[in-house]
Amino acid sequence: MIISLVNQKGGVGKTTIAINLAYALAQQGDKVLLIDTDHQGSVMHFKKIDQHNHFDVVHHTQTDLTQHIRELTQGYRHTVIDAPPAVGDMIRSVLLVSNLAIVPVGPSPLDIWSAREMVHLIRELRKEKRNLSGRLLICRKIVGTRVGREVREALENYQMDIFQTEIHQRIAYVEAMIAGMPVMAYAPQSEAGQEIKNLCTELL
Ligand SMILES: Nc1ncnc2c1ncn2[C@@H]1O[C@H](COP(=O)(O)OP(=O)(O)OP(=O)(O)O)[C@@H](O)[C@H]1O
Ligand SMILES: [Mg+2]
Repeated sequence: MIISLVNQKGGVGKTTIAINLAYALAQQGDKVLLIDTDHQGSVMHFKKIDQHNHFDVVHHTQTDLTQHIRELTQGYRHTVIDAPPAVGDMIRSVLLVSNLAIVPVGPSPLDIWSAREMVHLIRELRKEKRNLSGRLLICRKIVGTRVGREVREALENYQMDIFQTEIHQRIAYVEAMIAGMPVMAYAPQSEAGQEIKNLCTELL
């Protein structure tokens, strides 16, 4: 399965989810590839400090993914694609090779409004790629606030599936990244580790 993390809005957690999800999928015993399509190369920076090599990483910033995806993903059960915070040819090419596009959305009206464009783009590209589906993921929710419930209600208007699993704003994600580890490895018993596990289970 090819799973991408897409949202033109910056800082919603695409890269954090991509790294942690790639690890969670690899923990199932499958070979996993993570493709970093962002010029910022955040995944590549992570890979430099990651000691464990649980999954493979490539940096591919050209918009010709559709031509290369077959050779890139050969031998991998799952591929995760981290997309840049932009709309344009790169996102189109990421979506055209994806089976599932996850749109992480932060718990604020600004984030909800900006997700609309991505929802429309996924819907438009489904005409070209029938086996592409989109799913919204509530991300960076603040623990102990009611805002999350309101976000879910607002997102329901987009008529796109929403993950039951919600990713909260948790220091463990940042600490794990500093340690060069996915959160499930850094703090296996943590709530952050558990929500990534839940996301992976729900997705599979
Ligand atoms: N659930 C979370 N809890 C706490 N911090 C988080 C969480 N998700 C992301 N962050 C932090 O927020 C910042 C932005 O996250 P990240 O780089 O994953 O977002 P992004 O959508 O990939 O950004 P960009 O659009 O710039 O690529 C990072 O410093 C990251 O450590
Ligand atoms: Mg990123």
